[in-house]
This record gives sequence, structure tokens and C-alpha cells, in this order.
Amino acid sequence: MTEIALGGRFTFPGTSLTVHRIGYGAMQLAGPGVWGPPKDPDAAVAVLREAIAAGVNHIDTSDFYGPHVTNQIIRQALHPYPKELVLVTKLGARRPPDKSWQRAISPEDLTAGVHDNLRNLGLEALDIVNYRTMGSVHGPAEGSIAEQVSVLADLQKKGLIRHIGLSNVTAAQVAEAQKIAPVVCVQNNYNLAHREDDALIDDLARQGIAYVPFFPLGGFSPLQSSTLTAVAGRIGATPMQVALAWLLHRSPNILLIPGTASVAHLRENLAVGKLTLSPETLAELYGIAGAGAAVKHA
Ligand SMILES: NC(=O)c1ccc[n+]([C@@H]2O[C@H](COP(=O)([O-])OP(=O)(O)OC[C@H]3O[C@@H](n4cnc5c(N)ncnc54)[C@H](OP(=O)(O)O)[C@@H]3O)[C@@H](O)[C@H]2O)c1
Repeated sequence: MTEIALGGRFTFPGTSLTVHRIGYGAMQLAGPGVWGPPKDPDAAVAVLREAIAAGVNHIDTSDFYGPHVTNQIIRQALHPYPKELVLVTKLGARRPPDKSWQRAISPEDLTAGVHDNLRNLGLEALDIVNYRTMGSVHGPAEGSIAEQVSVLADLQKKGLIRHIGLSNVTAAQVAEAQKIAPVVCVQNNYNLAHREDDALIDDLARQGIAYVPFFPLGGFSPLQSSTLTAVAGRIGATPMQVALAWLLHRSPNILLIPGTASVAHLRENLAVGKLTLSPETLAELYGIAGAGAAVKHA
């Protein structure tokens, strides 16, 4: 797999961490409802090893997937890790036995979360940790995150965290966090049909900060659009591939972490770096989010 085939490279600002723009999101490796072990643990290991063999060097995870399960599978499949692999995890939630998602944002919660990730991933320091707000379900809500980012900054000074990112945040929260510590990436809900972050993406691009869309394929409600299907048919790709290729074209700071528990889907997703979308096709795809969406691409 060539560098171009994985979407080219991106270096997180102010770091020595360079990744291919096409990575992998590990949430789908846990059991149904992101709870418990996968139905087929060997298949989960196979997906991770296939990703690494294909050149993926950016994996998104969290200790609250499973909980603990996803990190443990990553460790089982990939430890000792390839030198160039960047593992990005997130803090801010916990999963009680009722399988709900609850805030875990006190200094004690965040510190314990770092140690859980270190233990389950088998690491001495975490490459990048996103503070994930529990704003609304899959969207942010305004409110100060200074206390939580300060805790991460302290853990960074102690050497347990190398770099800090944010997830499920507003532009104001990004600006607030940047007064406390450098922010290297933002991970929010964004895809062809869900475009609230257009202005934020452009602003982060100007600063060289990565924007990593979660639910790039629609997440629990896969993207469905007659335009997407028509474009895919025309260029000989699948609709999901077109959705990912559009994100790569959208802005050079966008990094992909599509989630899958299937080796076949993984291969499909990793192949999108080879897809070129014409300006006419990009304009057509921009229309999916509504006639008012601005026509622009990198
Ligand atoms: N920060 C946050 O709050 C947050 C929230 C959600 C997710 N995330 C991260 O973002 C990553 C991506 O999000 P996601 O996994 O929830 O959603 P996603 O990537 O938008 O979509 C995943 C869904 O699409 C299916 N899929 C994947 N590739 C496919 C293909 N080529 N063709 C058809 N179906 C395909 C998967 O099923 P199969 O398994 O059958 O392929 C799965 O059901 C996660 O893995 C996680 O690491 C972060």
C-alpha cells in the first residue's frame, strides 16, 4: 500500500507524530452496543493486524469501549507496537454495569482513566489523549472545559500523556483549551450529511490542527443518499468509499478513522485514497447536506 493510497501524510502540530490520513477507529471491535467482548475475537484481531499490514499507523480507541475490551484486543493483536503507530485514546466517560454512558470528568476520574488506558494498552505513555465532553449525546454543548484540560495538562507534564486533543467540543471550547495547553486534534461528529463543523474545520486547518470526524460513515445510522449511490455507481466505487473520499477532499487536515469489524470493509475503506473526485462530483456531493451548503474543497 503506497503513501498516496492511504491518503498522504499528516503531522500533528508541534509533534513528531506523522500518520497516514487514512486510519482506523476501533470502537466496532467491542460487542454489540460497544459492550463486552466481540462475537468473534479472532476476527477482531485479524482486522487490526490487516490494518497494520496495510500501512495504517493511526488507531483511535478508548478504554470505555467494552469497557476495556477494545484496548485489550489492540494490545493482544499488536503489542509490541510498531514504532510508527500512533494510538489515540479518549477520556471523559465511564460505563457502569447498566451499559449506559456516564460522565467521568473529575480529576480523580481522568487520572484513573489515563492509568486504565496505560495498563490495558500496555504502554508507559499515551501518544494523544482526547478529552471527550459528554455535552449532548453525539454533539457538544457549551460550557467550560478548563478544569478537565488542566488535569490533562498536568498528566502531560508528568509524562503520562504526550499530546492533548479534544472531542465533542465547540469552537469556544477549543479556544478555551488552547489557552491551557496545545491542542493537536479535534474529534467531532461530521460526515457528508452532518456538517455543523464546516467553519471549525476551516479554522483548525489554518492552525494545522487535525480534524478527525467520528461517524464518518454515519455511525449507528449509516449514510444513505440517492446522490451518494448515483456517484458511487458512476465512478465504480461503493457509497461508503465515496463518503470517505469526500472527507479526504474536504480539507487536508481531515484524518479518517472509519470503524469496522470486517476485514472486507477495512480493505474497502483503506482503498479510498486512490479515488479522485472531480470538481463537479464534489459539488454534487456538497448538495447532500442541503442546498445552502457552501461549495468548497481543499
Ligand atoms: N469521539 C467520539 O465521541 C466518538 C464517537 C463515536 C465513534 N468514535 C470513533 O470514531 C470511529 C468511527 O466511528 P464509528 O465506527 O462509530 O462509525 P462509522 O465509521 O461512521 O461507521 C461504522 C459502521 O459502518 C460500517 N462500515 C464500515 N465500513 C463499511 C463499508 N466499507 N461498507 C459498509 N459498511 C461499513 C460498520 O459495520 P461493519 O463492522 O459491518 O463494517 C459500522 O456499522 C469509531 O470506531 C471510534 O473509534 C468516536
